Amino acid sequence: MSTNGRRPSRYVSMPNTPVDRDMAREPVTTEPAGRAGRYAGLFAYARTAAERIAASPHRPVTGRAVRLRAAALALLDAPHRTPPDHEVPRTAAYDALDVLVEEWPSLAVGRLDGADVMRSRPGLWGRLMTEWPMMEYADALVAALPRLYTGTESVLEIGSGVGNATARLAPLYRERLVWTDRELSLVRHSRWPGTGRVFDFDLEPPDDLGRFDAIVGINALHCAADIARTLGRLRRLLLPGGILLLAEGNSPTRSDGTPWALDLLFNAFDGWWDRGGFRTRSEWREALSSQGYTDIRTSAMTAGSDDLGGLIWAYRPE
Ligand SMILES: C[S@@+](CC[C@H](N)C(=O)[O-])C[C@H]1O[C@@H](n2cnc3c(N)ncnc32)[C@H](O)[C@@H]1O
Repeated sequence: MSTNGRRPSRYVSMPNTPVDRDMAREPVTTEPAGRAGRYAGLFAYARTAAERIAASPHRPVTGRAVRLRAAALALLDAPHRTPPDHEVPRTAAYDALDVLVEEWPSLAVGRLDGADVMRSRPGLWGRLMTEWPMMEYADALVAALPRLYTGTESVLEIGSGVGNATARLAPLYRERLVWTDRELSLVRHSRWPGTGRVFDFDLEPPDDLGRFDAIVGINALHCAADIARTLGRLRRLLLPGGILLLAEGNSPTRSDGTPWALDLLFNAFDGWWDRGGFRTRSEWREALSSQGYTDIRTSAMTAGSDDLGGLIWAYRPE
């Protein structure tokens, strides 16, 4: 246990991040009203997209497309979900699923990949990343950081992308924040307080990146070529006693193997289909402990009986 005095009780209460079912010591909080219905609606919509891809006469000829179609079949194998009888807000995830079905003939033969499809629909990727459900991961992480590590003097964000969390972190941490992505274009175009840097977490960090009290990442680290090696790199960027706090989705979401609703969509993208997509909580624990992190904890974002992932945090020993 840290003695640096800035780490509060490890068993903190975090609104909207209910207990990880296999971490009995974590506190139980309630699921926000409406999340289960919204998720059931999204799941049913993704299943319809999967039906159309599975029934399409266009057969996949690339590794990416083969995985995408396999993800469609896995969704169809999962128990049917009745969408809620009330209307649920339609977000960019629905639009992106529509586009996926529309572009399937080109995706199947490798004429396009997910990134090409998004480039041809300006604004869609930014909306997809910052609207529900993706924004819930950023919200949970930003709310939890000050509770898990008080008096944070320096924060590094990895894989900041279009700034789902950066936009929320920057007003709080200002010049104490360094946000990073491997894509120069994303870093260059961002205009938040703090410093934007290019950092490819598959490689050694730039020498002058600095060392940090807190390193955070939202739905980014699962893209790593070798998660354990990257975790080792990040540990060296942490100050003694510092926290690594991740928000990551989870798939499958049920013990019967039901995939996360958007597995299908994200299989169109490099960094997902070729890297294994979301990991399970036990895979994160194992990778963290193999790299010498301590006090490994998790919390779950549930939607009824689906476990959508949530927070994972651990500390660099003093
Ligand atoms: C799914 S997006 C999430 C972005 C952002 N964290 C969010 O929540 O909106 C994943 C991000 O990780 C970045 N990424 C993928 N592999 C990376 C790597 N090896 N090093 C750094 N960033 C990487 C991508 O460029 C992308 O911006």
